[in-house]
Amino acid sequence: MAVLVTGGAGYIGSHTVVEMLGEGMDVVILDNFSNSKPKALERIREVSGGDFAFEQVDLLDSEGVERVFEKYDIDSVVHFAGLKAVGESVSIPLKYYHNNITGTLVLLETMKRHGTKRLVFSSSATVYGVPKTVPIREDFPLSATNPYGMTKLMIEQILGDLAKAEPDFSISCLRYFNPVGAHKSGLIGEDPTDIPNNLMPYICKVAVGQLEKLSVFGDCYDTHDGTGVRDYIHVVDLAKAHLAAIKETGERKGIDYFNIGTGTGYSVLDIVKTFEKVNGIKVPYVITGPRPGDVGSCYADPSKSERVFGWKAVYGLEEMCRDAYNWQIRNPKGYED
Ligand code: NAD
Ligand code: UFG
Repeated sequence: MAVLVTGGAGYIGSHTVVEMLGEGMDVVILDNFSNSKPKALERIREVSGGDFAFEQVDLLDSEGVERVFEKYDIDSVVHFAGLKAVGESVSIPLKYYHNNITGTLVLLETMKRHGTKRLVFSSSATVYGVPKTVPIREDFPLSATNPYGMTKLMIEQILGDLAKAEPDFSISCLRYFNPVGAHKSGLIGEDPTDIPNNLMPYICKVAVGQLEKLSVFGDCYDTHDGTGVRDYIHVVDLAKAHLAAIKETGERKGIDYFNIGTGTGYSVLDIVKTFEKVNGIKVPYVITGPRPGDVGSCYADPSKSERVFGWKAVYGLEEMCRDAYNWQIRNPKGYED
């Protein structure tokens, strides 16, 4: 019995596969390398000392996906594969809708045909839109402010309808907050193909001199220092949440939704200061205007995940900053080195 990991060569998928192999799980990775590199797979083997099957298949290729399900005895799926850049999703929405929605439909139809009914889906805190209050609970109102967020919301809707129509399906939607950091080995990590949009990879590139300075997007939010507050979660904690989710999802029927965060919000300047302190390096920055569409404060109430999964984040901000920088200095060009 194997677990199919779609998007397993990517940032969160690669860390999750390492944890799965550590538990002795039988893993099949499916990825089309649209936002990842084959080298990540070698590194997963190196970090874990374990092995897995790999299929280079696009989820949009229904025959290719069918062949994967025919070849392996897949009893559950962890579905990471998707495009994730918010700004790009505004410029090329059709590509985002097609890849994320159609890809998921192909996957679900194939799962149904093969009687595979356990699914853990990578959702996002973006489904809460602009939250009225924090911390955010799973029962807060949902909305989307960009096509990427809309794909997550639509997939949650599709999964909800599927769970109603097919009561034997067991589905968990994990709403990640802000994943950062890297495996402590420095062998796997986040490898943005372009100039990073997200804070931590941007800081890393400033720290090593690949970018000149950080633009801090706004200092007039209603937060302790005026800069945006987010719930950063170490990617290894996030990876471990998937192991707990796979187990719990198999023990119940229907669909459920879980916040995956630490419950603590840190500001942009908190991150800069902690990064400088733990890594002994300066991060030059300049305060600019706010980034359109940003919210001031976004952090989770993660108590449901702790109660239901028995999972809780253990790494703090210092480890997140240390491990992110360690990955950056060991891999200045990401997986291209
Ligand atoms: P990533 O881009 O590093 O990994 C996604 C992987 O999916 C890549 O390896 C890519 O090649 C693959 N992929 C994309 N479309 C595919 C397709 N049609 N067929 C086969 N493979 C395909 O992203 P990540 O940061 O690891 O994110 C994983 C998931 O978590 C995504 O669904 C993302 O939306 C979600 N998520 C990420 C964040 C974050 O900040 N990183 C936050 C919330 C939710
Ligand atoms: N920020 C800067 N400068 C930068 C980049 C970011 O000041 O160069 C600030 C942002 O304004 C925000 C914070 O750093 O206050 C975090 O920004 P990120 O871009 O790292 O993360 P976001 O919370 O904006 O977005 C993330 C994911 C999205 C997801 C969203 C909600 O990247 O995919 O969380 O879950 F939709």
